[in-house]
Amino acid sequence: MEKTNNITKEWFKDWANEYDRTLGKVKRHHALLDLVVKLSEVKENDAVLDIGCGTGLLSLKFLKTKYCFITGIDSSPEMLSIFKEKIKKLEVKNHTTCKLEDAAALNFDRNLFNIAASTVTLHHLKNKYPTVKKIYNILKPEGKFILGDVDMDTTGKITDPERLLRIMGWLNEEFTLAIKEGGIEAFNRMYDNGRKHILNDGEYCISFIQWEELCRKAKFREVIVKPLPDFEWFKVLVAVK
Ligand SMILES: C[S@@+](CC[C@H](N)C(=O)[O-])C[C@H]1O[C@@H](n2cnc3c(N)ncnc32)[C@H](O)[C@@H]1O
Repeated sequence: MEKTNNITKEWFKDWANEYDRTLGKVKRHHALLDLVVKLSEVKENDAVLDIGCGTGLLSLKFLKTKYCFITGIDSSPEMLSIFKEKIKKLEVKNHTTCKLEDAAALNFDRNLFNIAASTVTLHHLKNKYPTVKKIYNILKPEGKFILGDVDMDTTGKITDPERLLRIMGWLNEEFTLAIKEGGIEAFNRMYDNGRKHILNDGEYCISFIQWEELCRKAKFREVIVKPLPDFEWFKVLVAVK
């Protein structure tokens, strides 16, 4: 089983304290999470798994929309500890469970969740199919897998100039938003992150056509992809079991 690599663990250990005031300040990030929650059609008391919950930005949006039951998993103890502080402060302990767990493991019973959601996390896995299949297995019949991420094929030769230009096209927009909405700290963070995407250094984004293929291979019966309005590089995929 592929585990979170050390580069990613170190990256989030270092970023955790800054996360909410860097990426968490970017309006596009919130628009992506809002679209994920909207397309999930979450209902009261649904069992929702948030894969790579981080500081809880997505989980808390689910809870604000419907009083569901959240299980958040993440491989970074530092990100989780920030989420745990929020759970305590907001008094949502009865509806929220956090677990240090790798997305590649997903040690849950079959047919457990109504919704498995994940935002800007699963691209950290190099080998994605086993996790997509596990997500299928732990969802209830008619359960939904909702993925919000960058629509970016970074496979291929790192020295290929066309690949580099494609990634740079997205990074242009990302850096501009980061500096405008999150300031220098956010820009620095996204700039360093950009280098990791270019070098596939813990970041392995694929296109949504590729994500869709993985879901069909895992036998999801219906797969749709919706663009994030005004932000051409981001999409949300909904796959129904
Ligand atoms: C960019 S953050 C996204 C956090 C949150 N979903 C959001 O949208 O704000 C990515 C999160 O995924 C976690 N992560 C990365 N690789 C992971 C893995 N293999 N298993 C579980 N969590 C992972 C990181 O620790 C981090 O908290």
